[in-house]
Amino acid sequence: MKLWGGRFTKEENQLVHNFNESLSFDQKFYRQDIEGSMAHVTMLAKQGIVSEEDKEAILIGLKGILEDIQSGKLEFTKEHEDIHSFVEANLISRIGEAGKRLHTGRSRNDQVALDMKLYCRDEIKEIDRLTKALMEELLKIMEENLDTYMPGFTHLQKAQPVTLAHHVAAYFEMFKRDRQRLHDVYERMNYCPLGSGALAGTTYPLDREYTAKLLGFYGPTLNSMDSVSDRDYVIELLSAMSLIVMHLSRFSEEIIIWNSNEYRFVELDDAYSTGSSIMPQKKNPDIAELVRAKTGRVYGALMSMLTVMKGIPLAYDKDIQEDKELTFDAIDTTKGCLALFTGMISTMTFRKDVMEASAKKGFTNATDAADYLVKHGVAFRDAHGIIGQLVLYCIEKNKALDDMTLDEFKAVSPVFEEDIYEAISLKTCVEKRAVIGAPGRTAMEQALTLFHQQLDGQRTLK
Ligand code: ARG
Repeated sequence: MKLWGGRFTKEENQLVHNFNESLSFDQKFYRQDIEGSMAHVTMLAKQGIVSEEDKEAILIGLKGILEDIQSGKLEFTKEHEDIHSFVEANLISRIGEAGKRLHTGRSRNDQVALDMKLYCRDEIKEIDRLTKALMEELLKIMEENLDTYMPGFTHLQKAQPVTLAHHVAAYFEMFKRDRQRLHDVYERMNYCPLGSGALAGTTYPLDREYTAKLLGFYGPTLNSMDSVSDRDYVIELLSAMSLIVMHLSRFSEEIIIWNSNEYRFVELDDAYSTGSSIMPQKKNPDIAELVRAKTGRVYGALMSMLTVMKGIPLAYDKDIQEDKELTFDAIDTTKGCLALFTGMISTMTFRKDVMEASAKKGFTNATDAADYLVKHGVAFRDAHGIIGQLVLYCIEKNKALDDMTLDEFKAVSPVFEEDIYEAISLKTCVEKRAVIGAPGRTAMEQALTLFHQQLDGQRTLK
């Protein structure tokens, strides 16, 4: 059915229809479309713009459509241009005359602005929930690994020892910021565009405050031209999701490295890895690789959407229809990545012994050995040189600093005493790093208490 057939004489060309239609993708928010219509007609009746009987008939009709779509009884048929026309045409065929009154004081422009907002708002809550679930998993890993020593890296070179808990806490911080960003988007977007009409409001005495309240918004938007063309919140959401998948991608990259034969820091569960069709020894980290790769789709949607919006004169232009496929795909991708990633890390085993041996082997305690000399009166620059010599010696002899005899130490500097072993043990190196934010147990315990409070305290979007 065409909502705008009256003014037109020629039949619409099929190619034009196919290019123009959006039902094939905006059917995704049929629920939000019906929810919006229900609020609209409830308000129309309260204002005396439609009768109580018409309202009742419309509500019953809309409820029936909703149930029939959900049960699969009602299918989306191609001849309709979009979900709005589809629902309206169905309503009219179900309840007759009354159905024709639903669209009073409304345009598809404010209707679609509302639907997209309702959809994004629901999805923000879901993404927030999935991010929280991931953070809960990270908390568990942290709690179990406060003393799991591993090398910390810079430039992917072993640098100083840290713990697995400390490493994972870095990601906890990233996802914490991600949730804050989602909450920010929610706060800014949560105003209702319904009642803005095509662009200039309407002459009907609508109660916009009332519909806003019925739909759980903080209030109505304050400019009708902006309302029908604002997709800032879509861009903000795409940006927030881009950061989420970027963080997931970084973490995936680390897991891929940790899972390699060279590292063997982790063992992926069979359910989250795949074999090779030709090489029987392989266990590939496909899920982590796919998460890493899918990041591009979300960034792509962000760039596309910024581009769609950059040349749009006020108010609504059809360009805006492009917001949907991009955003729906980015949302589904982000949710999929979050859920799969959480499953992957919650079933992954950490090889603590391998991590610890790696930290021991890579001279990650070299800074602490230099600090030992400094504490015994050697200038830091000289200490740096002495330890450099020792490292070179160890590389030649293929041993760790801790494995050298005291005589070997003394041969390079007489300052070394028996207590050097204690000073450069992994435990000491980590424990001495006790400032807040550092890997030492006391510092990590303090951070963990705060992490718990923050996770519990961070508002759950309802
Ligand atoms: N399918 C359209 C969209 O997604 C709905 C609004 C249509 N409005 C119009 N004036 N053609 O943007």
